[in-house]
Amino acid sequence: RRQGLLQDQHVLITAGGTKEAIDPVRNLTNRSSGKMGYALAQATLAAGANVTLISTTGQQPPFGITYIPVQDARQMQAALTERYAASDVVIMAAAVADWRPTSVAQEKVKKQPGQTTWHLDLVRNPDIIAGLGAQKSHQFLVGFAAETQDLIANAEKKMAAKHVDMLVANDVSKAGVGFGADDNAVVLLRPGTPPQYIVKAPKREIATQIVTAIGRFLQANY
Ligand code: C5P
Repeated sequence: RRQGLLQDQHVLITAGGTKEAIDPVRNLTNRSSGKMGYALAQATLAAGANVTLISTTGQQPPFGITYIPVQDARQMQAALTERYAASDVVIMAAAVADWRPTSVAQEKVKKQPGQTTWHLDLVRNPDIIAGLGAQKSHQFLVGFAAETQDLIANAEKKMAAKHVDMLVANDVSKAGVGFGADDNAVVLLRPGTPPQYIVKAPKREIATQIVTAIGRFLQANY
């Protein structure tokens, strides 16, 4: 039998931007494509893991990956909570909306004659990864951070605040990487360890390097 770096580990991965309903025909969302999450699902599968992908994109992942389609942050949180105790590694690659409409209109909201503005009332979504961090027992928790300034300092703060074991930080102000792009350039951060820079490469290769870092860490520490 082939032995991968994450052989038989139960891995939960989230992908895509959450879609927060406004009414039956409209969502509030962001520019996340889900590409990084899907690349990580493939890379963890190739490393021998038992992979579950919780995704907002509506895209069926490759054979061998358990697929849980969700739309919004609260559905994503419920899907994660249900499987958290039985998971060894959780990778939050999804871009979770910080805010959702306070209420969802039952019918399509129609524009009124002469109406020129519409005020949407928003409420904070739960910080899913912070909740998982607070409830952590044996799980290895990986978060993502997209920053436009002070990348390392902001990411280090985020990692500590959310009790995350590894943070994948990327500078989204750089062209050709990050949201929607096929390439990415990231920095891997772990508590008490110098930053590990991963140079610009296709998301598939970045994913393999992230999986290698997770696998090596788990083999050395557990
Ligand atoms: O604080 P920020 O949104 O930049 O943190 C990004 C990390 O936190 C990502 O791993 C993202 O999936 C996660 N997150 C979350 N719930 C939120 C917001 C972000 O789990 N409401």
